[in-house]
Amino acid sequence: MSVKILNSRKGQKISKYIYGQFSEHLGRGIYEGLYVGENSDIPNENGLRKDVVNALKKIHVPVLRWPGGLFADTYHWQDGIGPKEGRKKIVNTNWGDVTEDNSFGTHEYFELLRQLGAEAYINANIGSGTVQEMAEWVEYMTMPGKSPMANLRQKNGRKDPWKLKFFGIGNETWGGGGNMRPEYYSDIYRQYQTFLPQYNKDKPIYRVACGPSEDDYNWTEVLMKNAAQYLDGISLHYYTLPKGEDWISSKGPATGFTDKYWYKTMDRAKFMDRLLTKHSEIMDKYDPNKKVNLIVDEWGTWYDVEKGTNPGFLYQQNTLRDVLTGAITLNIFHKHADRVYMANIAQMVNVLQAMILTDGSKMLKTPTYYLFDMYQKHMDAESILEDGELPDRITYTASKKDGKLTISLGNYDLNQDKTVDFEFEENPKSIENAEIITGSTMDAHNTFDNPNEVTLKEFNGATLIDDKLHIAIPAKSVISVTLR
Ligand code: AHR
Repeated sequence: MSVKILNSRKGQKISKYIYGQFSEHLGRGIYEGLYVGENSDIPNENGLRKDVVNALKKIHVPVLRWPGGLFADTYHWQDGIGPKEGRKKIVNTNWGDVTEDNSFGTHEYFELLRQLGAEAYINANIGSGTVQEMAEWVEYMTMPGKSPMANLRQKNGRKDPWKLKFFGIGNETWGGGGNMRPEYYSDIYRQYQTFLPQYNKDKPIYRVACGPSEDDYNWTEVLMKNAAQYLDGISLHYYTLPKGEDWISSKGPATGFTDKYWYKTMDRAKFMDRLLTKHSEIMDKYDPNKKVNLIVDEWGTWYDVEKGTNPGFLYQQNTLRDVLTGAITLNIFHKHADRVYMANIAQMVNVLQAMILTDGSKMLKTPTYYLFDMYQKHMDAESILEDGELPDRITYTASKKDGKLTISLGNYDLNQDKTVDFEFEENPKSIENAEIITGSTMDAHNTFDNPNEVTLKEFNGATLIDDKLHIAIPAKSVISVTLR
Protein backbone atom coordinates (compact mmCIF):
# COMPACT_ATOMS: atom_id res chain seq x y z
CA MET A 1 0.00 0.00 0.00
CA SER A 2 1.30 3.47 -0.77
CA VAL A 3 0.77 6.93 0.59
CA LYS A 4 -0.16 9.70 -1.83
CA ILE A 5 1.65 13.01 -1.58
CA LEU A 6 -0.81 15.79 -2.46
CA ASN A 7 1.83 17.98 -4.04
CA SER A 8 -0.24 19.69 -6.72
CA ARG A 9 -2.29 21.64 -4.14
CA LYS A 10 -1.41 24.91 -2.54
CA GLY A 11 -0.16 24.39 0.97
CA GLN A 12 0.11 26.49 4.08
CA LYS A 13 3.41 28.36 4.35
CA ILE A 14 5.72 27.01 7.07
CA SER A 15 7.10 30.19 8.62
CA LYS A 16 10.88 30.17 8.89
CA TYR A 17 10.44 31.60 12.38
CA ILE A 18 9.35 28.13 13.51
CA TYR A 19 13.09 27.43 13.46
CA GLY A 20 13.75 30.21 15.98
CA GLN A 21 15.92 29.81 19.04
CA PHE A 22 16.01 31.05 22.62
CA SER A 23 19.02 32.14 24.66
CA GLU A 24 18.73 33.29 28.26
CA HIS A 25 21.16 34.57 30.87
CA LEU A 26 21.25 31.09 32.35
CA GLY A 27 24.28 28.94 33.17
CA ARG A 28 26.75 28.94 30.29
CA GLY A 29 24.13 29.79 27.66
CA ILE A 30 25.37 33.31 26.98
CA TYR A 31 28.64 33.65 28.91
CA GLU A 32 31.20 31.15 27.59
CA GLY A 33 28.63 29.63 25.20
CA LEU A 34 28.30 32.68 22.98
CA TYR A 35 30.04 35.60 24.59
CA VAL A 36 33.60 35.42 25.88
CA GLY A 37 34.56 39.12 25.71
CA GLU A 38 37.05 40.88 23.47
CA ASN A 39 40.04 39.96 25.66
CA SER A 40 39.43 36.21 25.68
CA ASP A 41 41.98 33.74 24.28
CA ILE A 42 39.08 32.03 22.54
CA PRO A 43 38.95 33.46 19.00
CA ASN A 44 36.16 36.01 18.90
CA GLU A 45 34.73 38.91 16.95
CA ASN A 46 33.60 41.73 19.21
CA GLY A 47 33.54 39.26 22.10
CA LEU A 48 31.40 36.63 20.35
CA ARG A 49 33.11 33.31 19.86
CA LYS A 50 33.80 32.59 16.21
CA ASP A 51 33.48 28.78 16.32
CA VAL A 52 29.97 28.88 17.78
CA VAL A 53 28.73 31.74 15.58
CA ASN A 54 30.10 30.05 12.45
CA ALA A 55 28.35 26.79 13.30
CA LEU A 56 25.06 28.59 13.97
CA LYS A 57 25.31 30.58 10.74
CA LYS A 58 25.14 27.32 8.78
CA ILE A 59 21.69 26.53 10.17
CA HIS A 60 20.36 30.04 9.45
CA VAL A 61 18.83 30.86 12.82
CA PRO A 62 15.97 33.17 11.77
CA VAL A 63 15.20 34.75 15.15
CA LEU A 64 16.65 34.70 18.66
CA ARG A 65 14.60 35.27 21.82
CA TRP A 66 16.44 37.06 24.65
CA PRO A 67 17.14 37.83 27.58
CA GLY A 68 14.79 35.25 29.18
CA GLY A 69 12.81 33.32 30.35
CA LEU A 70 12.61 33.89 34.03
CA PHE A 71 15.69 36.09 33.86
CA ALA A 72 13.75 38.65 31.80
CA ASP A 73 11.63 39.53 34.80
CA THR A 74 14.66 40.53 36.88
CA TYR A 75 16.47 42.24 34.02
CA HIS A 76 16.83 46.00 34.00
CA TRP A 77 18.14 46.93 30.58
CA GLN A 78 19.95 50.07 31.71
CA ASP A 79 22.32 47.82 33.70
CA GLY A 80 23.59 46.39 30.40
CA ILE A 81 24.53 49.52 28.42
CA GLY A 82 27.46 51.95 28.48
CA PRO A 83 31.12 51.31 29.36
CA LYS A 84 31.52 47.75 30.63
CA GLU A 85 33.54 48.65 33.70
CA GLY A 86 30.64 50.78 34.94
CA ARG A 87 27.94 48.17 34.43
CA LYS A 88 26.08 47.00 37.51
CA LYS A 89 26.87 43.55 38.85
CA ILE A 90 23.77 41.74 40.00
CA VAL A 91 22.92 38.27 41.32
CA ASN A 92 21.12 35.95 38.92
CA THR A 93 18.60 34.74 41.48
CA ASN A 94 16.75 32.48 39.10
CA TRP A 95 19.73 30.54 37.87
CA GLY A 96 22.29 29.49 40.47
CA ASP A 97 22.72 32.82 42.28
CA VAL A 98 25.80 33.56 40.21
CA THR A 99 27.12 37.06 39.52
CA GLU A 100 25.77 38.63 36.35
CA ASP A 101 28.16 41.38 35.28
CA ASN A 102 25.89 42.64 32.49
CA SER A 103 28.77 42.61 30.00
CA PHE A 104 26.32 41.14 27.49
CA GLY A 105 23.55 43.69 27.04
CA THR A 106 21.46 45.28 24.33
CA HIS A 107 24.37 46.30 22.07
CA GLU A 108 26.01 42.89 22.35
CA TYR A 109 22.70 41.16 21.59
CA PHE A 110 22.21 43.12 18.39
CA GLU A 111 25.83 42.47 17.45
CA LEU A 112 25.15 38.74 17.87
CA LEU A 113 22.09 39.06 15.64
CA ARG A 114 24.18 40.88 13.03
CA GLN A 115 26.78 38.13 13.03
CA LEU A 116 24.14 35.39 12.86
CA GLY A 117 21.91 37.15 10.34
CA ALA A 118 18.99 36.64 12.76
CA GLU A 119 16.07 38.89 13.74
CA ALA A 120 15.27 40.21 17.21
CA TYR A 121 12.76 38.90 19.70
CA ILE A 122 13.08 40.67 23.05
CA ASN A 123 11.12 39.82 26.16
CA ALA A 124 10.28 42.76 28.41
CA ASN A 125 10.40 42.80 32.21
CA ILE A 126 6.81 42.89 33.43
CA GLY A 127 7.37 41.06 36.74
CA SER A 128 9.67 43.61 38.41
CA GLY A 129 9.87 46.38 35.83
CA THR A 130 7.60 49.25 34.94
CA VAL A 131 5.71 50.48 31.91
CA GLN A 132 8.13 53.39 31.65
CA GLU A 133 11.19 51.12 31.75
CA MET A 134 9.76 49.02 28.95
CA ALA A 135 8.78 52.03 26.85
CA GLU A 136 12.23 53.59 27.27
CA TRP A 137 13.99 50.37 26.25
CA VAL A 138 11.99 50.26 23.03
CA GLU A 139 12.67 53.97 22.51
CA TYR A 140 16.40 53.28 23.03
CA MET A 141 16.39 50.50 20.48
CA THR A 142 14.10 51.83 17.79
CA MET A 143 13.72 55.63 17.92
CA PRO A 144 15.15 57.02 14.64
CA GLY A 145 15.23 60.73 15.51
CA LYS A 146 16.29 62.68 18.55
CA SER A 147 14.92 61.82 21.97
CA PRO A 148 16.40 61.20 25.40
CA MET A 149 16.81 57.45 24.80
CA ALA A 150 17.89 57.78 21.15
CA ASN A 151 20.52 60.29 22.26
CA LEU A 152 21.73 57.88 24.94
CA ARG A 153 22.00 55.10 22.36
CA GLN A 154 24.06 57.34 20.14
CA LYS A 155 26.27 58.34 23.04
CA ASN A 156 26.88 54.62 23.57
CA GLY A 157 28.12 54.24 20.02
CA ARG A 158 25.08 53.21 18.00
CA LYS A 159 23.81 55.85 15.60
CA ASP A 160 20.97 54.11 13.80
CA PRO A 161 18.08 52.38 15.49
CA TRP A 162 17.99 48.60 15.37
CA LYS A 163 15.18 46.57 13.88
CA LEU A 164 13.05 45.06 16.61
CA LYS A 165 10.82 42.50 14.95
CA PHE A 166 9.13 40.72 17.88
CA PHE A 167 8.45 41.94 21.41
CA GLY A 168 7.19 39.78 24.30
CA ILE A 169 5.12 41.46 26.99
CA GLY A 170 5.54 39.09 29.93
CA ASN A 171 7.11 35.68 30.40
CA GLU A 172 5.26 32.98 32.30
CA THR A 173 3.17 35.61 34.06
CA TRP A 174 1.08 32.71 35.40
CA GLY A 175 4.19 31.56 37.35
CA GLY A 176 7.67 33.01 37.88
CA GLY A 177 6.76 36.13 35.90
CA GLY A 178 4.30 37.40 38.51
CA ASN A 179 1.94 34.59 39.59
CA MET A 180 -0.91 36.49 37.95
CA ARG A 181 -4.39 35.32 37.15
CA PRO A 182 -5.40 35.54 33.49
CA GLU A 183 -7.97 38.28 34.12
CA TYR A 184 -5.37 40.47 35.82
CA TYR A 185 -2.66 39.73 33.25
CA SER A 186 -5.01 40.53 30.35
CA ASP A 187 -5.39 44.05 31.77
CA ILE A 188 -1.67 44.40 32.48
CA TYR A 189 -0.98 43.30 28.91
CA ARG A 190 -3.43 45.86 27.53
CA GLN A 191 -1.79 48.58 29.59
CA TYR A 192 1.80 47.75 28.60
CA GLN A 193 1.06 47.39 24.90
CA THR A 194 -0.61 50.83 24.94
CA PHE A 195 2.75 52.41 25.75
CA LEU A 196 4.85 50.29 23.39
CA PRO A 197 6.37 52.86 21.03
CA GLN A 198 5.66 52.12 17.38
CA TYR A 199 7.80 54.55 15.34
CA ASN A 200 7.51 52.61 12.10
CA LYS A 201 3.82 52.59 11.31
CA ASP A 202 4.39 50.52 8.15
CA LYS A 203 6.18 47.77 10.04
CA PRO A 204 4.92 47.81 13.60
CA ILE A 205 6.65 45.72 16.24
CA TYR A 206 4.92 42.34 16.51
CA ARG A 207 3.40 42.01 20.02
CA VAL A 208 3.52 38.67 21.81
CA ALA A 209 1.37 38.30 24.92
CA CYS A 210 2.14 35.70 27.56
CA GLY A 211 -0.03 32.73 26.72
CA PRO A 212 -0.68 29.49 28.54
CA SER A 213 1.47 26.94 30.24
CA GLU A 214 0.92 23.61 28.58
CA ASP A 215 -2.79 22.66 28.81
CA ASP A 216 -4.08 25.69 30.73
CA TYR A 217 -6.94 26.23 28.29
CA ASN A 218 -8.67 28.68 30.61
CA TRP A 219 -5.70 31.06 30.27
CA THR A 220 -6.09 31.09 26.49
CA GLU A 221 -9.84 31.58 26.78
CA VAL A 222 -9.58 34.57 29.15
CA LEU A 223 -6.68 36.21 27.31
CA MET A 224 -8.34 35.89 23.92
CA LYS A 225 -11.65 37.13 25.26
CA ASN A 226 -10.12 40.20 26.90
CA ALA A 227 -7.17 41.18 24.76
CA ALA A 228 -7.30 39.52 21.31
CA GLN A 229 -7.73 42.85 19.52
CA TYR A 230 -4.52 44.22 21.07
CA LEU A 231 -2.09 41.45 20.22
CA ASP A 232 -0.42 39.68 17.32
CA GLY A 233 0.55 36.40 18.95
CA ILE A 234 0.23 34.52 22.22
CA SER A 235 3.01 32.36 23.56
CA LEU A 236 2.81 28.73 24.63
CA HIS A 237 5.41 26.98 26.78
CA TYR A 238 5.67 23.23 26.71
CA TYR A 239 8.70 21.12 27.61
CA THR A 240 9.13 17.44 26.83
CA LEU A 241 9.83 15.77 30.17
CA PRO A 242 10.29 12.02 29.92
CA LYS A 243 8.57 11.38 33.22
CA GLY A 244 5.69 13.61 32.38
CA GLU A 245 3.68 14.94 35.19
CA ASP A 246 6.26 15.74 37.86
CA TRP A 247 8.64 18.72 37.62
CA ILE A 248 10.00 18.42 41.12
CA SER A 249 11.44 14.92 41.24
CA SER A 250 13.89 13.47 38.75
CA LYS A 251 13.05 14.09 35.11
CA GLY A 252 15.25 11.20 34.06
CA PRO A 253 18.80 11.24 32.74
CA ALA A 254 19.75 12.60 29.32
CA THR A 255 21.80 9.45 28.57
CA GLY A 256 21.66 5.90 29.92
CA PHE A 257 17.85 5.77 29.93
CA THR A 258 15.70 2.71 29.27
CA ASP A 259 13.44 1.79 26.31
CA LYS A 260 10.47 2.72 28.47
CA TYR A 261 11.72 6.29 28.81
CA TRP A 262 12.52 6.51 25.10
CA TYR A 263 8.86 5.79 24.29
CA LYS A 264 7.55 7.96 27.13
CA THR A 265 9.56 10.88 25.80
CA MET A 266 8.14 10.28 22.30
CA ASP A 267 4.61 10.28 23.72
CA ARG A 268 5.31 13.52 25.58
CA ALA A 269 6.59 15.11 22.37
CA LYS A 270 3.49 13.98 20.48
CA PHE A 271 1.32 15.75 23.08
CA MET A 272 2.24 19.03 21.38
CA ASP A 273 -0.28 18.15 18.65
CA ARG A 274 -3.14 18.01 21.13
CA LEU A 275 -2.05 21.23 22.79
CA LEU A 276 -1.92 23.15 19.52
CA THR A 277 -5.24 21.70 18.38
CA LYS A 278 -7.06 22.60 21.59
CA HIS A 279 -5.55 26.07 22.04
CA SER A 280 -6.28 26.82 18.37
CA GLU A 281 -9.89 25.76 18.76
CA ILE A 282 -10.31 28.23 21.63
CA MET A 283 -8.59 30.96 19.62
CA ASP A 284 -10.91 30.23 16.66
CA LYS A 285 -13.87 31.34 18.76
CA TYR A 286 -12.45 34.86 19.12
CA ASP A 287 -10.33 34.96 15.99
CA PRO A 288 -11.91 32.82 13.27
CA ASN A 289 -9.70 34.35 10.57
CA LYS A 290 -6.55 33.27 12.40
CA LYS A 291 -4.98 36.71 12.63
CA VAL A 292 -3.53 35.91 16.05
CA ASN A 293 -0.69 33.41 16.03
CA LEU A 294 0.51 30.85 18.49
CA ILE A 295 4.16 31.45 19.36
CA VAL A 296 5.72 28.40 21.00
CA ASP A 297 8.60 30.40 22.41
CA GLU A 298 9.86 27.71 24.77
CA TRP A 299 9.94 24.06 23.78
CA GLY A 300 12.35 21.15 23.89
CA THR A 301 13.48 18.31 26.11
CA TRP A 302 14.27 18.82 29.78
CA TYR A 303 16.24 16.15 31.66
CA ASP A 304 18.25 15.91 34.87
CA VAL A 305 21.43 18.00 34.71
CA GLU A 306 24.71 16.25 33.98
CA LYS A 307 26.36 14.85 37.12
CA GLY A 308 28.69 17.30 38.83
CA THR A 309 27.22 20.38 37.14
CA ASN A 310 25.40 23.27 38.81
CA PRO A 311 21.69 22.31 39.04
CA GLY A 312 20.81 25.92 38.23
CA PHE A 313 22.64 25.76 34.90
CA LEU A 314 20.35 23.21 33.21
CA TYR A 315 23.23 21.62 31.31
CA GLN A 316 22.26 18.32 29.68
CA GLN A 317 23.59 15.97 27.01
CA ASN A 318 21.77 15.63 23.74
CA THR A 319 21.21 12.29 22.01
CA LEU A 320 19.47 10.54 19.18
CA ARG A 321 16.33 10.66 21.35
CA ASP A 322 16.37 14.46 21.01
CA VAL A 323 16.56 14.13 17.23
CA LEU A 324 13.41 12.03 17.18
CA THR A 325 11.46 14.21 19.66
CA GLY A 326 12.67 17.27 17.75
CA ALA A 327 11.43 15.83 14.43
CA ILE A 328 8.07 14.92 15.97
CA THR A 329 7.69 18.47 17.31
CA LEU A 330 8.80 20.28 14.16
CA ASN A 331 6.48 18.07 12.08
CA ILE A 332 3.60 19.03 14.40
CA PHE A 333 4.47 22.73 13.98
CA HIS A 334 4.35 22.25 10.19
CA LYS A 335 0.94 20.65 10.49
CA HIS A 336 -0.30 23.65 12.50
CA ALA A 337 1.41 26.25 10.33
CA ASP A 338 -1.88 28.13 9.98
CA ARG A 339 -1.56 29.18 13.65
CA VAL A 340 2.06 28.59 14.63
CA TYR A 341 4.13 31.46 13.25
CA MET A 342 7.18 31.23 15.50
CA ALA A 343 8.76 28.72 17.85
CA ASN A 344 11.96 29.03 19.87
CA ILE A 345 13.75 25.93 21.03
CA ALA A 346 15.17 26.13 24.54
CA GLN A 347 18.00 26.88 24.42
CA MET A 348 20.64 27.63 21.80
CA VAL A 349 23.92 26.81 23.61
CA ASN A 350 24.73 24.75 26.75
CA VAL A 351 21.20 24.85 28.19
CA LEU A 352 18.46 22.18 27.86
CA GLN A 353 18.01 20.93 24.24
CA ALA A 354 20.95 22.85 22.85
CA MET A 355 22.41 23.08 19.35
CA ILE A 356 25.93 23.53 20.67
CA LEU A 357 27.82 22.43 23.79
CA THR A 358 31.05 24.05 24.89
CA ASP A 359 33.77 23.23 27.39
CA GLY A 360 36.09 26.21 27.66
CA SER A 361 37.60 26.62 24.21
CA LYS A 362 36.15 23.30 22.95
CA MET A 363 32.78 23.07 21.25
CA LEU A 364 30.63 20.40 19.62
CA LYS A 365 27.48 20.29 17.53
CA THR A 366 24.73 18.21 19.11
CA PRO A 367 22.46 15.71 17.30
CA THR A 368 19.70 18.38 17.53
CA TYR A 369 21.96 20.76 15.59
CA TYR A 370 22.04 18.25 12.74
CA LEU A 371 18.25 17.97 12.79
CA PHE A 372 17.96 21.74 12.40
CA ASP A 373 20.53 21.57 9.62
CA MET A 374 18.55 18.85 7.84
CA TYR A 375 15.18 20.61 8.25
CA GLN A 376 16.32 23.96 6.86
CA LYS A 377 14.74 22.96 3.56
CA HIS A 378 11.30 23.28 5.13
CA MET A 379 11.78 26.93 6.14
CA ASP A 380 9.28 29.18 4.35
CA ALA A 381 8.21 26.23 2.20
CA GLU A 382 4.60 25.17 1.56
CA SER A 383 3.42 22.32 3.74
CA ILE A 384 2.15 19.30 1.78
CA LEU A 385 -0.39 16.87 3.11
CA GLU A 386 -0.51 13.15 2.49
CA ASP A 387 -3.36 10.75 1.89
CA GLY A 388 -3.03 7.21 3.24
CA GLU A 389 -1.82 5.36 6.29
CA LEU A 390 1.75 5.67 7.41
CA PRO A 391 3.24 2.79 9.38
CA ASP A 392 3.16 2.89 13.15
CA ARG A 393 5.79 4.98 14.96
CA ILE A 394 6.54 7.07 11.89
CA THR A 395 6.41 10.86 11.99
CA TYR A 396 5.99 12.62 8.64
CA THR A 397 6.24 16.01 7.05
CA ALA A 398 6.64 17.25 3.47
CA SER A 399 6.94 20.64 1.86
CA LYS A 400 7.69 22.25 -1.48
CA LYS A 401 9.79 25.25 -2.35
CA ASP A 402 11.56 26.51 -5.48
CA GLY A 403 10.26 23.61 -7.58
CA LYS A 404 11.59 21.01 -5.14
CA LEU A 405 9.77 18.67 -2.82
CA THR A 406 11.22 17.53 0.51
CA ILE A 407 9.84 14.59 2.48
CA SER A 408 11.14 14.07 6.02
CA LEU A 409 10.35 11.00 8.07
CA GLY A 410 11.28 9.86 11.54
CA ASN A 411 11.11 6.23 12.63
CA TYR A 412 11.02 6.18 16.41
CA ASP A 413 10.65 2.43 16.69
CA LEU A 414 13.75 1.23 18.52
CA ASN A 415 14.00 -2.11 16.73
CA GLN A 416 12.01 -2.25 13.53
CA ASP A 417 13.12 -0.81 10.22
CA LYS A 418 10.11 0.38 8.18
CA THR A 419 9.31 0.83 4.54
CA VAL A 420 7.03 3.43 2.99
CA ASP A 421 5.99 3.79 -0.67
CA PHE A 422 4.91 7.18 -1.90
CA GLU A 423 2.97 8.16 -5.00
CA PHE A 424 2.52 11.73 -6.17
CA GLU A 425 -0.15 13.92 -7.72
CA GLU A 426 2.64 15.44 -9.78
CA ASN A 427 5.53 13.10 -10.38
CA PRO A 428 9.02 14.28 -9.49
CA LYS A 429 11.81 13.47 -11.92
CA SER A 430 14.69 12.55 -9.68
CA ILE A 431 16.09 12.43 -6.17
CA GLU A 432 18.33 15.42 -5.62
CA ASN A 433 19.57 14.65 -2.17
CA ALA A 434 18.88 12.22 0.69
CA GLU A 435 20.20 12.46 4.26
CA ILE A 436 19.93 10.50 7.50
CA ILE A 437 20.61 11.02 11.20
CA THR A 438 20.90 7.79 13.16
CA GLY A 439 23.14 6.04 15.67
CA SER A 440 24.06 2.63 16.99
CA THR A 441 22.35 3.15 20.34
CA MET A 442 19.28 5.11 21.41
CA ASP A 443 21.40 7.45 23.48
CA ALA A 444 24.13 7.94 20.86
CA HIS A 445 25.62 11.40 21.34
CA ASN A 446 28.63 13.57 20.67
CA THR A 447 31.36 14.23 23.20
CA PHE A 448 34.35 16.54 23.16
CA ASP A 449 36.55 13.46 22.56
CA ASN A 450 34.23 12.03 19.91
CA PRO A 451 32.32 15.00 18.44
CA ASN A 452 31.15 13.23 15.26
CA GLU A 453 29.34 10.17 16.60
CA VAL A 454 25.94 11.51 15.46
CA THR A 455 25.96 13.70 12.36
CA LEU A 456 24.14 14.18 9.08
CA LYS A 457 25.06 11.39 6.63
CA GLU A 458 24.11 10.44 3.10
CA PHE A 459 21.02 8.21 2.99
CA ASN A 460 20.94 5.32 0.52
CA GLY A 461 17.52 3.92 1.38
CA ALA A 462 15.43 5.98 -1.09
CA THR A 463 14.74 4.91 -4.69
CA LEU A 464 12.48 6.48 -7.29
CA ILE A 465 11.22 3.83 -9.74
CA ASP A 466 8.20 4.11 -12.05
CA ASP A 467 7.01 7.30 -10.38
CA LYS A 468 7.01 5.63 -6.97
CA LEU A 469 9.31 6.63 -4.17
CA HIS A 470 10.36 3.71 -2.01
CA ILE A 471 11.89 4.55 1.35
CA ALA A 472 13.43 2.00 3.71
CA ILE A 473 13.95 3.84 6.97
CA PRO A 474 16.04 2.20 9.69
CA ALA A 475 14.88 2.03 13.30
CA LYS A 476 15.59 5.13 15.43
CA SER A 477 16.44 7.47 12.61
CA VAL A 478 15.29 10.59 10.81
CA ILE A 479 15.66 10.87 7.05
CA SER A 480 14.99 13.62 4.56
CA VAL A 481 14.69 13.21 0.79
CA THR A 482 14.55 16.10 -1.67
CA LEU A 483 13.13 15.49 -5.12
CA ARG A 484 12.87 17.70 -8.15
O1 AHR B 1 14.13 27.69 29.69
C1 AHR B 1 14.27 27.65 31.08
C2 AHR B 1 13.11 28.29 31.83
O2 AHR B 1 11.94 27.57 31.62
C3 AHR B 1 12.74 29.69 31.43
O3 AHR B 1 13.53 30.65 32.04
C4 AHR B 1 11.33 29.81 31.89
O4 AHR B 1 10.59 30.72 31.14
C5 AHR B 1 10.80 28.39 31.82
O5 AHR B 1 10.15 27.99 32.97
